[in-house]
Amino acid sequence: MDRTSYFSDRANGMQRSVIRELLKLTHNPDIISFAGGLPAPQTFPVEYVKRATAKVLEEEHVKALQYGATEGDPRLRKKLAEIMKRDGIDADPDQILVTTASQQGLEIMAKIFFNPGDTCIVGLPTYLGGLQSIKSYGGVPVGVELDEHGMIPEKLVEMLDKLEAEGRRPRLIYLIPDFQNPAGVTIPLERRKEIVKIARDRDYIIVEDTPYRQIRFEGEHQQTFQSLAPERVLSLYTFSKIMLPGFRLGWAYGPEWLINKFIMAKQSMDLCTPPFNQAVTYHMLEEGALEAGLKIIIKLYHSRCNVMLEELEKNLGDLEGVSWTKPEGGLFLWLTLPEGMDTDELFKKAIEKNVAYVPGSAFFPKNEDHRSMRLNFSYSNEEKIREGCRRLGKLIKEYKP
Ligand SMILES: Cc1ncc(COP(=O)(O)O)c(C=O)c1O
Repeated sequence: MDRTSYFSDRANGMQRSVIRELLKLTHNPDIISFAGGLPAPQTFPVEYVKRATAKVLEEEHVKALQYGATEGDPRLRKKLAEIMKRDGIDADPDQILVTTASQQGLEIMAKIFFNPGDTCIVGLPTYLGGLQSIKSYGGVPVGVELDEHGMIPEKLVEMLDKLEAEGRRPRLIYLIPDFQNPAGVTIPLERRKEIVKIARDRDYIIVEDTPYRQIRFEGEHQQTFQSLAPERVLSLYTFSKIMLPGFRLGWAYGPEWLINKFIMAKQSMDLCTPPFNQAVTYHMLEEGALEAGLKIIIKLYHSRCNVMLEELEKNLGDLEGVSWTKPEGGLFLWLTLPEGMDTDELFKKAIEKNVAYVPGSAFFPKNEDHRSMRLNFSYSNEEKIREGCRRLGKLIKEYKP
C-alpha cells in the first residue's frame, strides 16, 4: 500500500541508510568489526560516573530531575568555556549552547541554514551523519576533494566559483578539521588560514565539527577555526569520543547572533539536554575525569592505531595501487584499493570471512566512491586488529573484480 500521501515531502525523501542496514550484520560476535565508530568501552570513566551520580542524587536532585534552561546548566557552560580556553579560544560561556551531543548540533545546523535545494560544501569524503542531517532538510551536499591534509583550498575555490556562477551560492562550508571522520586526516594551520581567507573574502560561514580534536597522539595541535575566525565559525564539540557517548552530551559555540538561532531551533527539538546528565558531567569535570580519561584514551588508541598500520603494511604493503592514511589522532584511517576494485562488492565477501569495514561510498554525497573503506582502530583489541587485518589483506589480494 502506498502511504506516501500521509507524509511530508521531507519524510518521503528520507532514506534508510543502506550502510546502516549492512552494518547490522556486524553485530554477529564472530565478526571482527572495523566498521563502527565506537569508543573502547574500557575507557569509560565508570567510577567517576558513580561518584558524580550519587552526589547529584543526594544533593541536587530537585534541579537535576527537573526541566532545565535550553542553553544548558550555567555551571557546565562555564566549565566548557574553560576547556575551550585551554585550547586557545577566548570562550565566553554565554556563547555556548549545550546540545544533545554533536549530532543534534548538525541537525540544528541543517534546520536553520537550508531551504530545500540550498547547497552546502562538504569534504569528499565526509561524515555520514552530517550528510544525513543536511539532506533531511533538503540541503544539497556538494563535495570538495580532500588529500592527506584535508580539504584542498584550490578545489574549494574552484567549487565556489562554479556554484556562484550557477547562482547556487552555498549556505556554508562544513569541515571536520581534526582527524577527520572518515579519512583520519588533519588540516594544517597554513591551510586553515587559507580556508579562512576564502571564507572571509566571500563571506561564508564555516561549521567546524570536531569530536576527535583532543585525541591527538602524534604531532602538534593545530589552531582551531574558531580561534582563527570567531566572527564566522560555528564549532561543534561532544563528549562522545573523549569521555563517553551514552550521556549524549555536546556543545555548540559561535557568535551570539548564530547561537541565538541555534537556541531557538533547539527549543522545539527537545526543550533542553537532560539536566541530570549535565549535572553529572559537571561534577565529573570538577573531579578531573576528562584529563584522566584522555590520557588513557590517547595511549590506547595510539597503540591500536600503530598495530593497524603495522598489520596493513605486513598484509598489503606489497600490493601495487593500495594506500592508506596515517592519522595523528582520532579513531579512523582510510584505505584506498587499486583501480578497478569495488569495496561495496568486497563488503559482502568480507562479512563471509567475518571481518567488517564501512565501504567508502557511504561517505560521499552521491555514493560515488567505490575504491575506499573506513577502518576503525579504537574498538577492537590488538589481537583482533591483527587477525582482522590478516583476513582483510588476504581477501583484498585474492579479490578478482
Ligand atoms: C564528525 C562527526 N560529527 C558528529 C558525530 C556525532 O557524534 P555525537 O552525536 O555522538 O556527538 C560524529 C560521530 O561519529 C562524527 O564523527
